[in-house]
Amino acid sequence: GSYASPLLQGTSVIPLLTSVLQDDSEWESPHTLTPSHFLDEKGGFVKRDAFMAFSAGRRVCLGEGLARMELFLFFTSPLQHFRFSPPPGVTEDDLDLTPSVGFTHNPSPHQLCAVSRV
Ligand code: HEM
Repeated sequence: GSYASPLLQGTSVIPLLTSVLQDDSEWESPHTLTPSHFLDEKGGFVKRDAFMAFSAGRRVCLGEGLARMELFLFFTSPLQHFRFSPPPGVTEDDLDLTPSVGFTHNPSPHQLCAVSRV
């Protein structure tokens, strides 16, 4: 049964995960790329409850398990085989990591070099 008022029934609700993913009471530096958010002193992985990219509760992403496996394969394979760096003459500090903001936050296009590790 539904207790929602007839005025609210059918209302679309769009949760903004930004409120937790960029919460400065949860993250040391919520607005910059900081891999150490997920690392302990020994470099081990740390699970953070505020990392809710897949949402939470009854409407949690149904594809989370699949997406996590895909992301693992997608990133580990190239990272095992190549060393990635900015192009010659560009330092990591030169990179502008400001996201291009639309319906989602996307990285802006960058040029990079992939040098084989083997
Ligand atoms: C990095 C990849 C992904 C991210 C970050 C992501 C994130 C999300 C988020 C935040 C929601 C909740 C949207 C809402 O507020 O209602 C959602 C819902 C959903 N996602 Fe994903 N998703 C990803 C990949 C996938 C994949 C690979 C699949 C399927 C193969 C999938 C299937 C779904 C479905 C079916 C829902 C709706 C669940 C429901 O409302 O009952 N997602 N996803």
